[in-house]
Amino acid sequence: MTAALAVEGLTVRYGAATVVRDVSFEVPRGSVLGLVGESGSGKSTTARAIVGLAPSTGAIRIGDVDISRMSARQARAARRKVQMVFQDPRSSLDPRFTVGQSVAEGLTGTTRGAARSPRVRELLELVSLDPGLVDSRPNQLSGGQRQRVAIARALAAEPELLIADEVTASLDVSVQAVVLNLLRRLQDELDLTMLFISHNLAVVRYMCDDLAVLFNGQVVEQGRVEQVIDHPEHPYTRSLIGAIPEMGQRRLLSEDDVEASVTAGPASGPGCDYRLRCPLGPAAQAGREVCETTDPQAAAQQRAHAAACHFAASRLVDAAPVTSGS
Ligand SMILES: Nc1ncnc2c1ncn2[C@@H]1O[C@H](COP(=O)(O)OP(=O)(O)OP(=O)(O)O)[C@@H](O)[C@H]1O
Ligand code: SF4
Ligand SMILES: [Mg+2]
Repeated sequence: MTAALAVEGLTVRYGAATVVRDVSFEVPRGSVLGLVGESGSGKSTTARAIVGLAPSTGAIRIGDVDISRMSARQARAARRKVQMVFQDPRSSLDPRFTVGQSVAEGLTGTTRGAARSPRVRELLELVSLDPGLVDSRPNQLSGGQRQRVAIARALAAEPELLIADEVTASLDVSVQAVVLNLLRRLQDELDLTMLFISHNLAVVRYMCDDLAVLFNGQVVEQGRVEQVIDHPEHPYTRSLIGAIPEMGQRRLLSEDDVEASVTAGPASGPGCDYRLRCPLGPAAQAGREVCETTDPQAAAQQRAHAAACHFAASRLVDAAPVTSGS
């Protein structure tokens, strides 16, 4: 079956900086792909490229249609099928619009006329909002309510793909769970296809079927979510998971927790970008010159659970350090 979204070789450059590099993944219809990685790894830029908000090269297919080959006008229409919900509903909802007008905008592309229509009320009920709030403005709502309005507005367009970028990060912890449960229920009921971006691996595990891990704009590991989280092969993925001692309890992870695990930046030139930080690479182990000379990306594409690492097999990841002369 054709995937709802397929990106191939997606690359985003800002001036001399390449912030997303040769990223490829597929999101099968009705499934949820998680995108994780530290701050600055390129998660939002990948999403923004898919919805046409960042300049990109590579293929972006929505169903059978490659929108990167369309005229700007055609692509705009096709991209209506992809809706995005952002981290902070305070900035994504227009403060001048009523709840009804915001949702109507998703429905028809205009705020006129449909703001109090039965369909708008239906959409508010779908996201468990009181339809009586239809004439309220964003500043009269709580953060959780605002995020529900943003979700209703996105669903109004009947998207083939919903992109959720850190949608609970700006909410209180108690409200985060409510919004996540809402998204899970909607995903189930509407058979939504989603790209779900988060710092939080516990949340990703709860929400997603598949997972792609980004480091420095590249996918370093991807596979089924339980495979990647329970049996991570790439040292970077392992470091992300190691930052969550209470995985079993699904502890909510703050951005600071992940940032605290970051020590060195990415390497440039040939070889593996992760080598300056890698506990298995040449900075820590003798005899790993291959990490400095050969990019591990190419070989990774061959396997279903793909980790871009020359020493990806778990048994090597657990191996004792190789000392020189041994
Ligand atoms: N418009 C832009 N111009 C130049 N550089 C940009 C632009 N947008 C993003 N970047 C850079 O691209 C890189 C990736 O940013 P991005 O926002 O995609 O990361 P992220 O993974 O979403 O991070 P976070 O977890 O903090 O949201 C960063 O180094 C960022 O500074
Ligand atoms: S290729 Fe080498 S440096 Fe890169 S992640 Fe694997 S072991 Fe570490
Ligand atoms: Mg982001």
